[in-house]
Amino acid sequence: MKIKIGIACDHAGFKYKEKLKNYLENKNIKVSDYGCFSLESVDYPDFAHKLSKSILKNENSLGIQFCGTGNGINMSANKHQGIRAALCWNSHIAEQSRLHNNANVLTMPARHLEWNEVVEIVETFLSTDFEGGRHERRVNKISCN
Ligand code: RB5
Repeated sequence: MKIKIGIACDHAGFKYKEKLKNYLENKNIKVSDYGCFSLESVDYPDFAHKLSKSILKNENSLGIQFCGTGNGINMSANKHQGIRAALCWNSHIAEQSRLHNNANVLTMPARHLEWNEVVEIVETFLSTDFEGGRHERRVNKISCN
């Protein structure tokens, strides 16, 4: 099955979201863009919610999102039951978020990363699979209703 990736951001993450879209499309990955679409100031939850809903509806396999610190857009995504958004600022954390947490959304802090770090984190996230086993039991306990 071909991987489908949804992407989202606020104004602070707009430049990296645009670069990432281009980067993924050049790798022949299908990308759906949930905004925002300019540098104009916007509210990050609006875009986190659109992206999260698309994953829960199986329209995308994974999501990647940015805001300035990563926190706001990550908190918003994690309000959706079934979304496991991981705030990652290096590739080790990204790797662990897939191996141990089965993260389905990668969140990055656009104002605190260089582009080469973004690429490294994304590559690691997309090439790492969930380990299962004892981690499956823990992941199954994340939902609280
Ligand atoms: C926008 O200025 C900023 O607050 C936002 O990008 C993010 O860092 C929020 O968590």
